Amino acid sequence: MAETRWEQARASERAAGQGGYGAHFARLLDEGADIEGEARLADVLAPRGAWILDAGSGMGRVGGALVARGHRVVGVDFDPEILDQSRRTYPDLPLVDCRLDELTPDRLSAAGFPTSYDVVVCVGNVMILLAPDTERTVLANLTVLLGQAGRLLVGFALSGAPSGFSRRYPLDEFVADYEAVGLELVHRFASYDLEPFVAGGAYVVHVLRRAR
Ligand SMILES: C[S@@+](CC[C@H](N)C(=O)[O-])C[C@H]1O[C@@H](n2cnc3c(N)ncnc32)[C@H](O)[C@@H]1O
Repeated sequence: MAETRWEQARASERAAGQGGYGAHFARLLDEGADIEGEARLADVLAPRGAWILDAGSGMGRVGGALVARGHRVVGVDFDPEILDQSRRTYPDLPLVDCRLDELTPDRLSAAGFPTSYDVVVCVGNVMILLAPDTERTVLANLTVLLGQAGRLLVGFALSGAPSGFSRRYPLDEFVADYEAVGLELVHRFASYDLEPFVAGGAYVVHVLRRAR
């Protein structure tokens, strides 16, 4: 499989002796910072006790916060170091070690998890750190896992992303990609606290569902 932009970023950070994303969020957690904004919005979208898939779950801050709110959450990530950090920090968050471009219902059911979710969350710039040209595959894989009334919460930077290895993912290209896999727009915001999106904005949050 092609190397992800995430792996390129991590290799560069390691070479520079930098902790990167994992160390950053460990520090914020120690400081008591609010790192649950994405989870609060996902919680609003979900029925109580929902099944939620956290796609690219990282150190577990989003999935962990959703477990704490009573949801049944499955985190999916493929970075061994970040999976270890998640296990240590949020031991109640179950994890599947899998690339999102290889994620299938069979892979989840083999690990003992459902194949249909009320909410799928893919936040924190995951979409701009995938391997080149796998965005549509990942969106298609996540769409298959949405229940009939399921919703996909996706957020990423349109400009000024923290990692220099992130791709630029223009809004019209993202729209073409999600429509091509059978998704439609429910909401578009500029932030997880629902600031209105305006053209040229630096960050975009989408709530998507299967096209009707
Ligand atoms: C910036 S972190 C965000 C993590 C988490 N969503 C959050 O908001 O805290 C990006 C995550 O995407 C994961 N990632 C990137 N490409 C991936 C892929 N192809 N399959 C699975 N995970 C991937 C990385 O391992 C990393 O944990």
